[in-house]
Amino acid sequence: MAKPRLPPLAALAPYIERIDRARWYSNFGPLCDEFEARLAARFGLESVGVCTISNATVGLHLALKAAGAREGALCLLPSWTFSASVHAAVEAGLIPFFADVGADGLLTPAIAHEAIRSAPGEIGAVMPVAVCGQPIDPLPWDQFSKEYGLPVVLDAAPGFDGARPGQGPSVVSLHATKVLGVGEGGFVMSSDPDLVASVRRRANFGFLGTREAKVEATNGKLSEYAAALGLAGLDEWPDRRAAFQAVALRYRENLADVPGAALPEGWGQDWLSTTCVVRLEDPAATMPVLDALHAASVETRAWWGRGMHTHRAFADYPRLALPTTERLAQTVLGLPFYIDMTPEETDTVCSALREELVRCS
Ligand SMILES: Cc1ncc(COP(=O)(O)O)c(C=O)c1O
Repeated sequence: MAKPRLPPLAALAPYIERIDRARWYSNFGPLCDEFEARLAARFGLESVGVCTISNATVGLHLALKAAGAREGALCLLPSWTFSASVHAAVEAGLIPFFADVGADGLLTPAIAHEAIRSAPGEIGAVMPVAVCGQPIDPLPWDQFSKEYGLPVVLDAAPGFDGARPGQGPSVVSLHATKVLGVGEGGFVMSSDPDLVASVRRRANFGFLGTREAKVEATNGKLSEYAAALGLAGLDEWPDRRAAFQAVALRYRENLADVPGAALPEGWGQDWLSTTCVVRLEDPAATMPVLDALHAASVETRAWWGRGMHTHRAFADYPRLALPTTERLAQTVLGLPFYIDMTPEETDTVCSALREELVRCS
């Protein structure tokens, strides 16, 4: 399904030598500072607009706290997400409240607006999710946040390439499986430096400048070794992106004439993520397609299962009707995708898919 490839030893060596010389291994050291500054520049922010973090799950939890999410209240979020979003809401003291998504898999301000009217209690925060790494325009969410007086935290964990910062926090994962990976890691970004400073304090035992713990906090720091991987990853980013894009475009060309199968709009063209998903038009085709791919030795993955509301740990949380989530769960298949996937490998996946869908149509 995925064969992550992080920067090799030769690309890392100059950064590791810097760590050896400085003897500074964590606690926002020089490599971490440089990594944050380069990330900030990439997203058009001042360097104070980015805080690195040990992983995106911790980033979401701390961003909810920093943004002022009210403990004990509901966190409105889509069921169509990865379990990390839900765990982060619980960790921040909120009660997950599942809403449906639009046909593209995203929670919209309009859906959130309706959900708030039907909520079984006070809403304390909203967490839209870029589930395939799609770009989410932060502006409408910043407006929504102002209109309702509610913190909105964007879970852009899979969306390094398409993420766009707004005033509310966006949280991006740098897990090894993402387009830019450091093993375990992530960052929180916002155009509001006070918000980012609050995340930093909460990721560092509540300290900021002094050794006094001033707020509830944890240890969510990124080590200098992970920052070294991040810097080497940014050095090779243009080539890395181009290599992922070549595979994605091969998928797009191959699937263009396949009846009843669609890739997410813009994926491989305007934005990239390592989540390659195809959506089938007809739920009745899903089982035969899965069998055909299996017979061709092609692995598939139901990345978001049947929706988070069906997971045992989350089944008791309140939710609204979820018809689109249920349909997506029946029709969305994760396909193999990795940086050095050969054209022949991509063609094998697409041929198996095409043959079965032509047969079904
Ligand atoms: C939507 C979503 N949120 C959060 C996460 C968690 O990211 P991390 O593994 O960095 O904690 C992921 C990971 O894939 C994700 O897909």
